[in-house]
Amino acid sequence: MKQVTYYLVFCVSTAVIGSLQFGFNTGVINAPDEKVQNFIRNVTLVRTGDPMQDTTLTTVWSIAVSIFNVGGMIGSLSVGALVDKLGRRKSMLLSNILALIGGGLMGLSKVCTSYELMIVGRLVIGVFCGLCTGLTPMYVGEISPTALRGAFGTLHQLGVVIGILVAQILGLESLLGSQSLWPLLLALTILPAVIQSVMLIFCPESPRYLLISVNQEDEARKVLTRLRGHSDVEDDIREMKEEAMKMSMEKKVSIPELFRNSAYRQPIIIAIILQLSQQLSGINAVIYYSTEIFRKAGITEPVIATIGMGAVNTLFTVVSLFLVERAGRRTLHMIGLAGMTFCVLLMTISLKLVNPTEAVVNSTVIAQPASEGGISTISIVAILAVLGFVASFEMGPGPIPWFIVAELFAQGPRPAAIAVAGCCNWTASFIVGLSFPPLLKLCGPYVFIIFLILLIFFFVFTYFRVPETKARTFEDIASGFSNAAGSTAATYTSPEGAITMPVSPSSDKIQM
Ligand code: GLC
Repeated sequence: MKQVTYYLVFCVSTAVIGSLQFGFNTGVINAPDEKVQNFIRNVTLVRTGDPMQDTTLTTVWSIAVSIFNVGGMIGSLSVGALVDKLGRRKSMLLSNILALIGGGLMGLSKVCTSYELMIVGRLVIGVFCGLCTGLTPMYVGEISPTALRGAFGTLHQLGVVIGILVAQILGLESLLGSQSLWPLLLALTILPAVIQSVMLIFCPESPRYLLISVNQEDEARKVLTRLRGHSDVEDDIREMKEEAMKMSMEKKVSIPELFRNSAYRQPIIIAIILQLSQQLSGINAVIYYSTEIFRKAGITEPVIATIGMGAVNTLFTVVSLFLVERAGRRTLHMIGLAGMTFCVLLMTISLKLVNPTEAVVNSTVIAQPASEGGISTISIVAILAVLGFVASFEMGPGPIPWFIVAELFAQGPRPAAIAVAGCCNWTASFIVGLSFPPLLKLCGPYVFIIFLILLIFFFVFTYFRVPETKARTFEDIASGFSNAAGSTAATYTSPEGAITMPVSPSSDKIQM
């Protein structure tokens, strides 16, 4: 633990404010949804004398909600170009301008009687959050000591879940979720942006960027000495130099190059599938559906459900944080996927048994009152299944995909890879968000069988294809893939043993 200095903790905490922002803006729109919809309806009333039709309102509302994801796709895809040009630190600083603009637009929408301002604000905030999901894991991965990269990487997800929880709590009617205060709630994202910008003044550029990307060895050495708290940074410098040397022999890595070059193809496929395993596990659908499940089980106070789930979410991210350097990424990801598979099965069965004759109206399963005498056993099973699902998610599929992409690639291809992986994550989240309500309407609780099948696929894929990255240098991980591209099987060694990963023969060799 001697490698953890206050300065390192300060720099990681500064970057993780970006994760909080992503979580906060993901969760913030849910609580005050009725009030915001009333506002949209009233804008039309003020403008035309007639309130907005229900169907138009549904459309405008779903645009306001989902445009956040469109922004996220744009932002995440822009990460690569931005960090290559400006470096990591300046990119984070600049991205905060988007938070000020987006937060400002949303905050002003009510006084300006314009829901259009809110929609544009959500788009801008989406772009900002898309940048955050790339910038934070990249910066944290690059400044952390190898032995703690996973634990620090998990802090990104911890920031996300705390951000969601804060948004849910502040969104309560008695706090900022009221008819008059919701614009302030949406604009609140400005505050952490200002705080992060001030803190960033005291943070260094990533030493890997300094040495490998812009060839400033002295500066990199100075930064590393400060981050590690001692001047014995030769191992880090040597490893970076080896990486720099290899990189200087390769062409610049663009997004298409990631798919063309066989040395990158394998890790990019792994990165994409891991991102898909996070979103297509159905996590956001379950979080969305949980209120109904809890209501079905007889809990009349949704606040308890919200806070309870937020607490489980946070608790298990902390559990993962402590386990990830011991158990490893691959193992935890598989444990998480297996747990989710079991819980989603339990959820489907118990939901069907809770009320076999449920009515499905307006994309929401309308709950019948809980059986006489309070909460039935089967309802308790349904609640536990939801909590178990969320807990399993946070053990692996929540945190790991976000930081493992930075681990799977060396400095050259890392920005492009993070951009592609992030964009896949946002796109998948967009697809689940749009398709889940109609699917739920169509299939009822059986909709979860889709996620069950996908979860099994992701488990099998992780078992056969994902190498362990724990305690290995970036250079070691990358060379594992380059060797693999030239042979039909590659052996990844880690302190825990070796994993052999089969790869298809390829004629396309890495240029060295
Ligand atoms: C991950 C996902 C996000 C989800 C959250 C739940 O960060 O990317 O979509 O809402 O976990 O904890």
